[in-house]
Amino acid sequence: MSPNESNHPLFAPRTVAYSQSEMTELVLPNDANILGNLLGGRLMHFIDLTGAIAAFRHSRSYVVTASMEHIDFIRPVHVGDLIILKASVNRAFTTSMDVGVKAWVENAQNGVYLHVASAYLVFVAVDKEGRRVQVPPVTPETAEEKRRYEDAQRRREHRDNEAARRKAVAAKQ
Ligand SMILES: CC(C)(COP(=O)(O)OP(=O)(O)OC[C@H]1O[C@@H](n2cnc3c(N)ncnc32)[C@H](O)[C@@H]1OP(=O)(O)O)[C@@H](O)C(=O)NCCC(=O)NCCS
Repeated sequence: MSPNESNHPLFAPRTVAYSQSEMTELVLPNDANILGNLLGGRLMHFIDLTGAIAAFRHSRSYVVTASMEHIDFIRPVHVGDLIILKASVNRAFTTSMDVGVKAWVENAQNGVYLHVASAYLVFVAVDKEGRRVQVPPVTPETAEEKRRYEDAQRRREHRDNEAARRKAVAAKQ
């Protein structure tokens, strides 16, 4: 059976847990601004990587970042902090995947995590030639995963409506 056929085992639905990824980074002076705070762009890089790993695991193919949809920087991260990032594939569509990434700093003394940022990204699965490839569906299991699955559909509808609106505006100009 060829991996291009939709009943191939590669397209079997996958749980969220199957592809979840986690990354730990020590914030070094090179990652920071002159105040010693982690640069937003550097944090976005960590978020992109953690999300890409989850999307890669889910799709078992190369992935490209199509969009970083929403990002909240909740509190600053300092040089010497340990930053923990966790990513989950919330929902898969045809070739794209909605991925949520959450970041915390870990207090090295007491192990307490403080939430520092959250983001939603969309990754698209591609082959070696950069052609888009189909991805398997997500099976949400927990109540939280089911809520995120529905939220991902709402984001998708909002994106599609926005793209249609922009196209209509461009056609009038
Ligand atoms: C992302 C990319 C592959 C989409 O290709 P495309 O030919 O424009 O694709 P389409 O418009 O037909 O959409 C294909 C899928 O991508 C999704 N998509 C496209 N643009 C998107 C965007 N801006 N945000 C979210 N999803 C997007 C579509 O919803 C669709 O999903 P589906 O297959 O699950 O229904 C293409 O735009 C690309 O290669 N971009 C550059 C990626 C990159 O280099 N990233 C790193 C940036 S430094």
